[in-house]
Amino acid sequence: MIGLCARHILSVYGAVQKISRPARRKAQKSPCAGLRGVACGARLCYHGYIASHKNALSRPGQGGTGPRAVFRREKRRNGGNDMSEAGAQSAAAPRKKRVFSGIQPTGVFTLGNYVGAVRNWPKLQDEYECIYSVVDEHAITVRQDPAALRRQTRETAALLLASGISPEKSVVFVQSHVPAHAQLSWVLSCFCPFGDLTRMHQFKEKSAKHPEDINGGLLTYPILMAADILLYQTDLVPIGIDQKQHLELARNIAQRFNGVYSPTFTMPDGYIPQVGAKVMSLQEPEKKMSKSDANENAVVRMLDTPDAILRKFKRAVTDSDGCVRAGADKPGVTNLMSIYGVLTGKSFADIEREFDGRGYGEFKQAVAQTVVDALRPIQQEYARLLADRGYLDGVLAEGAVRAGAIARRTLAKVYKKIGFLQL
Ligand code: TRP
Repeated sequence: MIGLCARHILSVYGAVQKISRPARRKAQKSPCAGLRGVACGARLCYHGYIASHKNALSRPGQGGTGPRAVFRREKRRNGGNDMSEAGAQSAAAPRKKRVFSGIQPTGVFTLGNYVGAVRNWPKLQDEYECIYSVVDEHAITVRQDPAALRRQTRETAALLLASGISPEKSVVFVQSHVPAHAQLSWVLSCFCPFGDLTRMHQFKEKSAKHPEDINGGLLTYPILMAADILLYQTDLVPIGIDQKQHLELARNIAQRFNGVYSPTFTMPDGYIPQVGAKVMSLQEPEKKMSKSDANENAVVRMLDTPDAILRKFKRAVTDSDGCVRAGADKPGVTNLMSIYGVLTGKSFADIEREFDGRGYGEFKQAVAQTVVDALRPIQQEYARLLADRGYLDGVLAEGAVRAGAIARRTLAKVYKKIGFLQL
């Protein structure tokens, strides 16, 4: 924890919605005068975020918990460096490499996400400074039900925490709580050739899938993703293969901006964990297990009940050979073996020996039970977190303050370099 009182932070964010109309009108007349946050004296500008304007920040009443104190702490933590200045690290206390990842608040993670990514996250946070964002702004390129989006935003955050991401070690926040994402996105869009956007695989796929709603957001989606990454001077971005092209675009934008002005953004690299297997569909084992598969029997989700997990494995497609053995000619069995192997640490040879002479029924039962046991503690913690909304929202509010402090520094630099008037 960075010593911020959860009530304080909550009230800051609560105030965004709760500012009274006369107060809002007054604030609109003098945008950067700063409003007093409900119970804590933090300041909000009328844009709805903690003012970064230096006059607003230098007024009394901030105490040791305001954004300024967060800036100071950020600076101290980095050995007095201006951490957002690319390549400007002093010899003292080199900072940990920074990891940023965005997770859409749509659909529950699958066993594939768990084995391939989520399981590695807790380990990652000891080695790196990790920032995880629930990217609700990305989610609205496809129409979302408002209540469901709100609920799933909390659920996604809860699942990240339940999976072992510690709010003490890492930053977890909701993208729309840090306005700098949308702000930088606009600037970066002016540094991104139109043709680069129209040739993105995901744009082509999604616009083919939703021909009735090919909106601008679908096209500019990768620019917002570039803003997410570049705002935090990110070194490493854990991504699946499907996001590689988007990361490449972010690198191109960074390079263009750095070239036109001066080094501003750290050049991000993809981070592909060495461990972890690719989990295939339980029904069509030649295909990757996908969050959005219409056939629920093909997908095991992190929040599935033990009964559902057992049922899905029981129905998993195998072959008529009846022998637990890995091979290209046995994609179904090989997939089950690789799930079992990743979760138990056993090799294919171990597994073949263990199930020698036993049927698929018994093998499937063992795999399912291993998955149930691996997911149980996460599911329990997830339920506990969702029942404690005060805590969960407090973590997100604190995350937004910490992320916002870093993001605003980068944004301020960008605004200055491009020549936006600063008062
Ligand atoms: N586009 C990513 C996905 O669909 C989500 C995402 C948004 C992201 N912003 C990001 C991933 C920044 C990594 C870094 O999976």
